[in-house]
Amino acid sequence: LVLVVDFGAQYAQLIARRVREARVYSEIVPHTMPVEEMLAREPKAIILSGGPESVYEEGAPRLDPALFERDVPVFGICYGFMAMAAALGGEVANTGKREYGRTDVTVTQPGTLLAGLPQQLRSWMSHGDEVTAPPAGFTVNATSPRATVAAFEDVARQRAGVQWHPEVMHSEHGQEILEHFLVDIAGCRQTWTMVNIVDEQVERIREQVGDKRAICALSGGVDSSVAAALVQRAIGDQLTCVFVDHGLLRKGEAEQVERDYVAATDVRLRVVDVSEQFLGALAGVTEPEEKRKIIGREFIRTFEAAEREVIAETVGEPVEFLVQGTLYPDVVESGGGEGAANIKSHHNVGGLPDDLQFTLVEPLRTLFKDEVRQVGEQLGLPPEMVWRHPFPGPGLAIRIIGSVDADRLRILRDADAIVREEIAAAGLERDIWQFPVVLLADVRSVGVQGDGRTYGHPIVLRPVTSEDAMTADWGRLPYDLLERISTRITNEVSEVNRVTLDITSKPPGTIEWE
Ligand code: XMP
Repeated sequence: LVLVVDFGAQYAQLIARRVREARVYSEIVPHTMPVEEMLAREPKAIILSGGPESVYEEGAPRLDPALFERDVPVFGICYGFMAMAAALGGEVANTGKREYGRTDVTVTQPGTLLAGLPQQLRSWMSHGDEVTAPPAGFTVNATSPRATVAAFEDVARQRAGVQWHPEVMHSEHGQEILEHFLVDIAGCRQTWTMVNIVDEQVERIREQVGDKRAICALSGGVDSSVAAALVQRAIGDQLTCVFVDHGLLRKGEAEQVERDYVAATDVRLRVVDVSEQFLGALAGVTEPEEKRKIIGREFIRTFEAAEREVIAETVGEPVEFLVQGTLYPDVVESGGGEGAANIKSHHNVGGLPDDLQFTLVEPLRTLFKDEVRQVGEQLGLPPEMVWRHPFPGPGLAIRIIGSVDADRLRILRDADAIVREEIAAAGLERDIWQFPVVLLADVRSVGVQGDGRTYGHPIVLRPVTSEDAMTADWGRLPYDLLERISTRITNEVSEVNRVTLDITSKPPGTIEWE
């Protein structure tokens, strides 16, 4: 176990992921955790993350020097690097010389940390202070235009640090630097793999659930599918999955759950087709929040009815456990903590209420999305499910701008299917985070097709790249691919006579249009 001390959440998560990519298990802890508590977990190493740009900033988190009274290896990154230098008696100057973004770092003395790397490293920086003298016993490994000391190490005491962010993709050789610390300086063993995870979780779930019953709301998304498959492997028919087909999924997705998923997992599945009911409830509604509320409400009703039926079938035996596909980032963001509490985070099931009294089973609580996908592959789930893009609970209803009806759903489904086919054919599925296709159902535009004037609807393409959906950039797709998509949609979906591209980042835009 390697602990990543969180001085600024987005950095800590990325670092924890990179450490795991090095096949060393890592967890994030808040910087407010007492050092004693950190050490009680017997970490093989501790990594101090980036955070505010200056250790002199008001309210900047403090680093307890007690951390260095023990033998645990420590690596400091950016803020963590400066905080470490200051705590060990080095000099940190508030020079006001800020360094942001791409910076060339010069390796002056590779040592162990930067062994085998080129002399110039393009790196990502973001700092306002500068380490001007390393603590006693440290060797300086690199400098940058604005930092006399940009990296240092004390191999004998198993400590090192860098001023830049080796965890971000723009930093060259970042992963190698992390591994040099983890393996060559801290002596960690690289044994963390997804194969162990499946066995370990199956064991744990059996222990937790015993011979009781569990239920899971399957959405067709990666998280709930993998969570349910794991639980099925552990407890078999004690688990019932409920798939609420609200009629707002994309083409082929309901079939994927009903047919391919069941074939792959042998899960006991209860499909409730309530598309008519949902369409009725949504009729004439245009306001996005109103749509969400209606869908949430109908979903809960349906789920509760399904639960009652499951109970009736098992002669009144209650269902005690609810399976949720909660991931590690959700756990970190909601304040971390161990153990399964009663239901509180339910974004994965589209809003189950607090008074549903279940104990949660969350087998993915320690995993990042990419790891969940690997587990899904291990479990033999269909690749189209494992690699599915995130899809919102309210489905296509929030991608139809205007009211929702069967006709509009068909138009959007057809256009969306073409987009997915073309993206798959171009082999770009895994380069794009998500690709909403939006129907401007209340907007009409004039066009010409053949000899005739048309008066049809525009479709908006919204490809985005992202790491976590909190921020996103619009996806730069090749023009010829965009052309193919546009031509096919306007030819094959007769109601659409215009295809447009959304080139807004998030912020200011959100990923979805509603
Ligand atoms: P936005 O549009 O806020 O979306 O940038 C961020 C991510 O969340 C998804 N999303 C939802 N997921 N229920 C969900 O389960 C919702 O109501 C919902 N709204 C947005 C969106 O697809 C993106 O991945």
